[in-house]
Amino acid sequence: MRVQVAIVGGGPAGHLLGQLLYKAGIDAVVLEQRSQDYVLGRIRAGVLEQGTTDLLTEIGVGARLQREGLVHGGVGLGFAGSHHRIDLHGLTGKNVTVYGQTEVTRDLMDARSGAGLGTVYEAENVTLHDFDTAHPRVTYTKDGTTFEVHCDFIAGCDGYHGVSRASVPADALRTYERVYPFGWLGVLSETPPVSEELIYANHERGFALCSMRSHTRSRYYVQCSLDDKVEKWSDDAFWDELRSRLAPEFAEALVTGPSIEKSMAPLRSFVAEPMRFGRLFLAGDAAHIVPPTGAKGLNLAVSDVRYLSRALAEFYGGSEAGINNYSDTCLRRVWKAVRFSWWFTSLMHKFPDDSGFGPKTQAAELDYLVHSQAASTALAENYVGLPF
Ligand code: APR
Ligand code: PHB
Repeated sequence: MRVQVAIVGGGPAGHLLGQLLYKAGIDAVVLEQRSQDYVLGRIRAGVLEQGTTDLLTEIGVGARLQREGLVHGGVGLGFAGSHHRIDLHGLTGKNVTVYGQTEVTRDLMDARSGAGLGTVYEAENVTLHDFDTAHPRVTYTKDGTTFEVHCDFIAGCDGYHGVSRASVPADALRTYERVYPFGWLGVLSETPPVSEELIYANHERGFALCSMRSHTRSRYYVQCSLDDKVEKWSDDAFWDELRSRLAPEFAEALVTGPSIEKSMAPLRSFVAEPMRFGRLFLAGDAAHIVPPTGAKGLNLAVSDVRYLSRALAEFYGGSEAGINNYSDTCLRRVWKAVRFSWWFTSLMHKFPDDSGFGPKTQAAELDYLVHSQAASTALAENYVGLPF
């Protein structure tokens, strides 16, 4: 097979890149190691920046998002027993949209199959070759047969554990990492959300987040320790813990029910630089990870592939400037989101072994944040998303 771009990984980054390239008249194949059902079974964050919503709409995959997405003009901060609203729309003129990342992926998959574009699911042993030359190749095995894709470029959209970043010689990449000393325990339940808008809560027992997927489906998280086990958390224990971390009016209003999913995830920040090696471009989680506080993961993947699709369109239009600048352009925005996610994580969580100075400075900063328009605006600008 011969295509202009071989896209490794069929998560949101790979599928969105596929759609952007299709719109630009560039042919691509998506090679995904898992089945379609597996990819659609993953539960991920659900807050889209306005730039993400606008882009999905512009490229023709926004119809269901426009119908079903919940537009939020504000976000709540809970601390010291009370609730404060940050007026995102009033401070920035922009909103966020609550719409599951899995639904974004589903819409992109539907658009791709509707347009008759190629995706290979359950592609095993995906291997990248010769991407330091002008003639890269990707090989993979499917149903026992090995296939070869000849291409001009490879887009590594295969997430943190993928093969793309791992294929780059170690001395050509520099990585930056911060591992946080806690995780999140998340529950999905068929219950109405406790609040119309999200609530991020700082509490002496630890962080909590009230989010949602729809008017009837809620997504909640509590900070947990890294050695915690999901099996140790009964639904009742989860609801009690969540309630204890919310301001009284929300604790009383919380509607509980059986969990339909319960999982635990560690938190980390990670960046690999540069994001280009020869004719291989890394995008999304393959290049960087942010902790979920602030919901930047998907939105960063979106800006990466937006930059990449423009760069490739420029290349086929006769200029290499875009591909040469790809890494620097992405990383400028990536580091701002990494900084914001780290800052918001540090502000909202309980750090083990810090019983004094940390909580006091958090309390002072939260007080400042909600009473200073400048500080609230800085939070709001980052939360609704910096331009790309
Ligand atoms: N070969 C082919 N596909 C692979 C390989 C491989 N060796 N390794 C991983 N993949 C696939 C995974 O199965 C997955 O479907 O690549 C895809 C990567 O998808 P994601 O991990 O969702 O990453 P990305 O598309 O960059 O999306 C970023 O997802 O992880 C969240 O918080 C993150 O919201 C962010 C968003
Ligand atoms: C979610 O709805 O799963 C969610 C929302 C906001 C976050 C993280 C996760 O910051």
